[in-house]
Amino acid sequence: MKVVAGTSSPLLAKRIANALNADLAKTTFKKFPDGELYVRIEDVDKEAVIVQSINSNDDLVALMLMFDALEDAEITAVIPYMGYARQDKKFNEGEAVSIRAVAKLIESYASKVITVNIHSRDAAGYFKKLVEVDAMPVIGQYYSGKDVVMVSPDLGSYERVKVCAEHAGCEFDYLEKTRLDAETVEIKPKSLDVKGKNIVIVDDIISTGGTMIEATKMLLKAGANSVECACVHAVLAGNALNRLYSAGVRKVIATDTIEKAVSVISVAEAIADVLRS
Ligand code: R5P
Repeated sequence: MKVVAGTSSPLLAKRIANALNADLAKTTFKKFPDGELYVRIEDVDKEAVIVQSINSNDDLVALMLMFDALEDAEITAVIPYMGYARQDKKFNEGEAVSIRAVAKLIESYASKVITVNIHSRDAAGYFKKLVEVDAMPVIGQYYSGKDVVMVSPDLGSYERVKVCAEHAGCEFDYLEKTRLDAETVEIKPKSLDVKGKNIVIVDDIISTGGTMIEATKMLLKAGANSVECACVHAVLAGNALNRLYSAGVRKVIATDTIEKAVSVISVAEAIADVLRS
């Protein structure tokens, strides 16, 4: 079995190959003068594991061409970050359900699909062969033994943060929004006093950074000693990282589902475990 390192996930693919003691397939990715992508994959016989996050339209096209190049192999698609998953329903008449289209495309080629913390149950529901890896234990282990308190930005992420905090061995809470009047919303931790504490806000995705920035401002105002932001998927659209630091965030960390400078925690072993089974 060969591991195919996609254009968006070269480091994670290498880490997964190392964990499995498998070889990487020889790949060539080139751009034609008009910008179209050329893909060639050599030395793959029966089985291939493609590792390719979908964090842009180019990533999706590259994935499609990799599938085609591997037409004779049985393919497991590891999509560490499943982009397009936030459009998981028709919010307005006439809209595309993006993740449904992406799921159809992927499952028309792959016999098994593995992803990490997909956006929602609705999004996961469009797949028939999906296995989901939870990155919360590895993020928790990264903080094990550190003097921190974990906070979920909302009740919806509470269960996720609970798993993370259990692996870190620290206290946890979630932020609760209370509407005081038509113009005023108060956001504060449900039960913990954050004064003097080192807080880690944990979420699945940091995209624009808006959610983390609001939470950080509130926590610092409430007397937190420091605030770090930890997430699975560092989408970090536009200048999100600068905006986070400007808002007073001390550190941003993420897993390597999206390969950025902040992606210091690897999900390779967790994915390799699923591949082994
Ligand atoms: C929401 O459902 C997610 O868990 C994240 O809180 C959200 O996607 C983060 O987005 P942003 O960084 O743009 O606030």
